[in-house]
Amino acid sequence: MSGKNYSKAVEDIKATVNIVDVVGSCITLKRSGSGYTACCPFHNEKTPSFSVSDKKGFYHCFGCNDHGDVIKFVEKYYHLDFQGAVEKLCAQYGITIEETAGPADRKKEEYYEANKLAARYFYDNISKSANKGYDYMSGRGLSAKTMQYFGIGYGGDGWTGLTDKLLKEGVRKEVLTDLGLSREKNGRLYDYFHGRVIFPIINVRGKVIGFGGRVMDKSEPKYLNSPESAVYQKKYNLYGLNRSKDAVIREGYAILVEGYMDCVSLYQSGVENVAAVCGTALTPEQSKLIKRYTKNVVLCLDSDAAGIKAALTGIDVLKEAGLEVKVLNVDDGKDPDEYIKEHGRDAFLELLQKKSVPGVEYKVNILKRSYDLKDHTQGIKFLQELAGIIKKLSPVEGDIYIQKYSKEFGISEGALRREVEQAGDGKPGDVPLRRDVQPEQPEKTRQPSRTQLNVEHMLIRLIMLKPAFLERTRDYPEAFVSGRGRSVIAAMEALYKDGELDMAALRNELSDDDLLYLDRIEEKIQIGEDTEKSFMDCVSRLERARRTARIEEIDAILDMSDTLPEEALDQEYINKLLMEKQQLIIKNKGEN
Ligand code: UTP
Ligand code: MN
Repeated sequence: MSGKNYSKAVEDIKATVNIVDVVGSCITLKRSGSGYTACCPFHNEKTPSFSVSDKKGFYHCFGCNDHGDVIKFVEKYYHLDFQGAVEKLCAQYGITIEETAGPADRKKEEYYEANKLAARYFYDNISKSANKGYDYMSGRGLSAKTMQYFGIGYGGDGWTGLTDKLLKEGVRKEVLTDLGLSREKNGRLYDYFHGRVIFPIINVRGKVIGFGGRVMDKSEPKYLNSPESAVYQKKYNLYGLNRSKDAVIREGYAILVEGYMDCVSLYQSGVENVAAVCGTALTPEQSKLIKRYTKNVVLCLDSDAAGIKAALTGIDVLKEAGLEVKVLNVDDGKDPDEYIKEHGRDAFLELLQKKSVPGVEYKVNILKRSYDLKDHTQGIKFLQELAGIIKKLSPVEGDIYIQKYSKEFGISEGALRREVEQAGDGKPGDVPLRRDVQPEQPEKTRQPSRTQLNVEHMLIRLIMLKPAFLERTRDYPEAFVSGRGRSVIAAMEALYKDGELDMAALRNELSDDDLLYLDRIEEKIQIGEDTEKSFMDCVSRLERARRTARIEEIDAILDMSDTLPEEALDQEYINKLLMEKQQLIIKNKGEN
């Protein structure tokens, strides 16, 4: 698709294609004054408020305020993206799109091609003869038909099968490593997805942009995902939408789930209007993608802490993009995959009907849980938070919720309304849960040294290996010197419980940048077998740094004392400081 001169094509379209012609082939237009009118195809109406002007080359709906040029109309009417709309119009009106294949476009084509070959290899592995991947997937209830439909595959038992095959087919080594299909170790290439079942990630234009690979046992990490590359930027994509977009249009809403398995499993069970966010926070770009097919989204994430947090932020992101959001919590600790496998399609749809709540109500429910409403002070706090949520709504919606909640919580409408008026302009999602996670602090002016950063990275790596270390790092908050480090450790704290840290949940929690930071540490920091010794190394470096800081502090105090007359000084105190400094210096020397 790339490598084409779209801007030239757009000029040609604007010069030759008449918008009235195009719109008129989709809906019935009536001449009216200098333009044409119709009932708007993008919202429900009985009296026409949709107007097209061929002179201006624009349409505008006075009912839903949608407007745009001929390309925008085709995008919306046929649910295409910009390039798709341009291509459709060009095909229809005999406009040729010139090839401009610049270096970047050629590169992309090469990468898509390599991914396609890889996807074929994985699928052949799972479909041609008996293999562990097939057994695993069918053990989880997937039919051969579903595997084929989603192109699910198997990475193979060997360590170089894919690498060898693709090199033989002429794929360059650099492409293999850039795409994360192969990893280099000791000068040799190995299959990154070895021994895993594979979910190819395919965009809505049908290009294979990446892969997710799941282990077939309990080892970690559960999923490996392709790195971001020239063809894969995860913030733009939703898994499965290439297959489900027609169903989304048909059903009038999209169900967004957390994982690959949830998506595939729901689809197979007959709930086809589903796509997965794949464990990352929903982005504005993904919202825009969904909006091409529907305005209604049901967020159906896991009901663990990470899932709740993802829902709370997801609601805001989706709403921001102009989508209507509902939230469905699948109860009894199950994810949608497990739920539908156990209870079936009808039960799932019934649950969706009965239990999904509008985003606002979901937020309020979560909020309610974190306050004891019988306690007077907490009750007031709760109302203030509630007011903050309502304030962000449109006036009409806000009014409805003021009525609803004043009744529900037994307060006067007037009081709640005043509270809403006074509520600070809260940033999205000001629900208490979010407070657990500390906002990124501005970097201190003093740049952390290499040694300091190294200690920070070691500690984070150690906690990943043995979460109980987290408790012992609490005595050294200064160990986390970078903004990323502080944000990762805060997320770890939020999820840590009784010596355990759910790494998958942590990954879900982190921003892309934090995740990158974590991956780097995992890759770069080597820790020997004796984790206790490594930890104590860090501790002694931190203790030493504390002593150094105290020495500097004492020096500063002594310096200041020079400016004062002798009589004003407490000599005893000065002596104590001098002694302390002496001891610190000796200790620091001893530890060298
Ligand atoms: P889940 O742990 O909920 O996995 O992570 P799942 O989809 O239910 O998978 P099964 O049922 O255990 O096979 C949700 C999503 O988070 C991402 C994946 O996209 C996964 O589908 N994830 C999870 C990762 O990227 N890496 C991980 O290590 C774990
Ligand atoms: Mn699952």
